[in-house]
Amino acid sequence: MIDYSDLHRQVYEQGHLFGVEQLLPRDPLRDVKPGVRPNSIAIEGGAFGDEGKGKCVDELAARLAREHGKVIVYRWNGGANAGHTVEFEGHRVALHQVPSGAFIPGATVILGKGMVLHPADLVTELDQVATLMGPDSRSNVWVDEMAVLCLDTHRAFEAALNQWQEGGRGATGRGIAPAYADIVYRHPLRMRDLKVSDWQTRIGRHYDLYAGWMTGLGANLSSTTVPALQGTTQVGSRKAFLQNLGAQRNVLLPYIRDVSVPLHEAWMAASPPFIFEGAQAVGLDARFGVYPDVTASDPTLGGILASTEGLVLPRQIAVRAAALKATYTSSVGTRRLPTRMDEELAQRIREAAQEYGTTTHRPRDIVHLDLPALRFYARVSDASHLILTHMDIAYPNESIRVCTFYTDRRGNSLPYRPDQEYLKAVVPHYVELPSWDGAALRNARKPQDLPLPAQQFVAFVSQALGATPLFATIGPQRDETVSWLP
Ligand code: IMP
Repeated sequence: MIDYSDLHRQVYEQGHLFGVEQLLPRDPLRDVKPGVRPNSIAIEGGAFGDEGKGKCVDELAARLAREHGKVIVYRWNGGANAGHTVEFEGHRVALHQVPSGAFIPGATVILGKGMVLHPADLVTELDQVATLMGPDSRSNVWVDEMAVLCLDTHRAFEAALNQWQEGGRGATGRGIAPAYADIVYRHPLRMRDLKVSDWQTRIGRHYDLYAGWMTGLGANLSSTTVPALQGTTQVGSRKAFLQNLGAQRNVLLPYIRDVSVPLHEAWMAASPPFIFEGAQAVGLDARFGVYPDVTASDPTLGGILASTEGLVLPRQIAVRAAALKATYTSSVGTRRLPTRMDEELAQRIREAAQEYGTTTHRPRDIVHLDLPALRFYARVSDASHLILTHMDIAYPNESIRVCTFYTDRRGNSLPYRPDQEYLKAVVPHYVELPSWDGAALRNARKPQDLPLPAQQFVAFVSQALGATPLFATIGPQRDETVSWLP
């Protein structure tokens, strides 16, 4: 088991910074090996979600659109369970399903096959985009006809299941797991099912199936109340359900298309630049995260391969970045992470960084960085780079605790394993790293501008995780970012 004491000595006693004090020697987006697609970057959540990926994607999309005239932002997983807020030109917009970058001239955003899409919520989001960007912007939002429908029937069924099941109670209530389960049961409704003339028959059959299942669970589908983008709504009778969907369908039809050919052409050319935007995070993955409070989509970089139907191999992507909060980790759900923080400090961070869910508004748990878990997550997704967000959440008199290894109660080393029962019993061991004044980072834009303790911290964490730093964010605005790109 790695305990990182050697690394700690190298950074904090011998003064090795592993180059993080300067810009990267080459541009990883342009200067690529054969077989790698230039100007391609993927960003996944490297912890438990809410790392601030949206802001990074938005900023990067603006930069690449400026340099190349256009950019594609492709989202590969999740649905209305995700949420991030984009701030620009005095507007503050919450997006859930539409990828970041939708407000950038020159950006084409794609909602990929790997997503599950809720029509009513999507209509509201698309209206926001059209209002702010003008009606012509419609041609810059592509919805893959193979993406799966996630309806109020799924939300109602999830609520009924939560009455008796153990795992999954921390879910966002957006019907995500039942919609993905439809794929495994081999009866999913896809966006293309909205395009056909007998759409009402297909979706009516789906309604009947879910009504039957709910009756079996002792619940009633039509009278069940489910979350909506604002507040709640009732699923309603079969007729009302189909009527509502009919109105949404009229708005959505122009966006739904077969994306496979244009996607193939764009990927095979050297331009435009591609940004793959992940939702959720590896710690929420059903195979690698803290099971059972996990999500149903594939939030790892591997999910890109499936969503693009085998077109994009993760190893062809020039930069495969995991996003992490730099000095702490947040988690929302029912999972109990080993590195829980003293509540006084957690509360201070929660208020400073507004750690409340964008989708559910729940207060997030705040925990110390857990290197055994984070290294495992970076490894299983083969992350090459790191994006460290919230670098400004650091206090000069409060050293930063980082868990470097686990033991059992008798002191024997233990690895991370993706299982809540197991993780409940591990004992975390920490190092205390010197901190810095987060408020004083405001004007930092280059690695040289960071104070020494921040450089040491980035060197320690990036070496421990085996990935190279790419960006660190120091505030919520578009340009409040330190970049290692030359
Ligand atoms: P589901 O994705 O709604 O099924 O929720 C499964 C788990 O993932 C729950 O613990 C949720 O709180 C968590 N989760 C889902 N989406 C997000 C997200 O965007 N950020 C943080 N946690 C999330």
